[in-house]
Amino acid sequence: MVRRGRDLLMVYSLKTRILENKKILPDFYEMVLSAPAIAAEAVPGQFLMVKTSPTLVPFLRRPISLSRINAEEGTITLVYQVVGSGTKLMTVMTPGSEIEVVGPLGKGFTWSVKDKVVAIVGGGCGIAPLVALTEELLKAGKEVYALLGAQSRDKLLSDKYFIELGAKVMIATDDGSFGRKGFVTQLLEEVINTTRLDQVYCCGPLPMTKAVVKLTKEALVPCQVSLEERMGCGVGACLGCVCKVRSEEGSLTYKKVCHDGPVFTSSEVIFDD
Ligand SMILES: Cc1cc2nc3c(=O)[nH]c(=O)nc-3n(C[C@H](O)[C@H](O)[C@H](O)COP(=O)(O)OP(=O)(O)OC[C@H]3O[C@@H](n4cnc5c(N)ncnc54)[C@H](O)[C@@H]3O)c2cc1C
Ligand code: FES
Repeated sequence: MVRRGRDLLMVYSLKTRILENKKILPDFYEMVLSAPAIAAEAVPGQFLMVKTSPTLVPFLRRPISLSRINAEEGTITLVYQVVGSGTKLMTVMTPGSEIEVVGPLGKGFTWSVKDKVVAIVGGGCGIAPLVALTEELLKAGKEVYALLGAQSRDKLLSDKYFIELGAKVMIATDDGSFGRKGFVTQLLEEVINTTRLDQVYCCGPLPMTKAVVKLTKEALVPCQVSLEERMGCGVGACLGCVCKVRSEEGSLTYKKVCHDGPVFTSSEVIFDD
């Protein structure tokens, strides 16, 4: 149990059963886990610390966001990109076997009844957690623009989920192989110029996040961003993920991305250039 403000949040350390683990793109896999306790508690933007091997190597668990949360079926879906030893080990895990996870961890995205029209901006594997967010925003009756960016068509995650969910989907690829040629931030600029947005949510590579924060600040649109830091423990104990933020009073302070985030408001985040 973790206390955050007045809220008491359950965090589980569990062996979960793998229901599916399949390649969805050349470097990306989708893993579905049976985890009713986690699915019942989790909110979009939160993540799991995943033990990628039954041995001590690699020793540290890997942070992976909840891409979809199905409380009724008691399942959660992770979408992971294969980048190093831990995620490579995950690719050979078979349905029916077990995987140890800790979660749900961190502070997720928030929305209010006042927000009517919102945009989510996702790039690369940052698109993954925005599926769960879009599902919840649409359930809450919001009009959702889903602006998705990737280097090329074969690296674009999940656009079909956003279309099936009923979001207004716009796509940009760096090489023009799908959707508009260019950066997803150009799509955001267009939407900001033509639509009165109440909130923007962002998850993706740092240069994209910086550009989204700049655009939304200039347009005076509130924005929440999910930050990525290398994580050791994922629960606020090792200080490995500390980042500099601006407090409400304007002074500089430090927060833990795993415990105080990964979602922060754009007014809090400070980027060291
Ligand atoms: C809150 C959060 C959510 C994330 N969600 C996703 C997701 O949904 N899908 C996805 O594909 N990736 C996600 N990542 C990135 C993912 O954690 C890394 O790609 C993964 O840890 C790499 O592990 P590896 O063993 O394959 O690579 P290695 O390079 O061998 O990892 C070495 C070490 O660095 C850490 N590390 C490496 N890259 C990152 C990174 N970008 N961010 C944080 N730690 C890193 C690892 O945890 C490990 O401790 C997320 C990261 C964070 C912080
Ligand atoms: S990863 Fe250990 S404090 Fe955040």
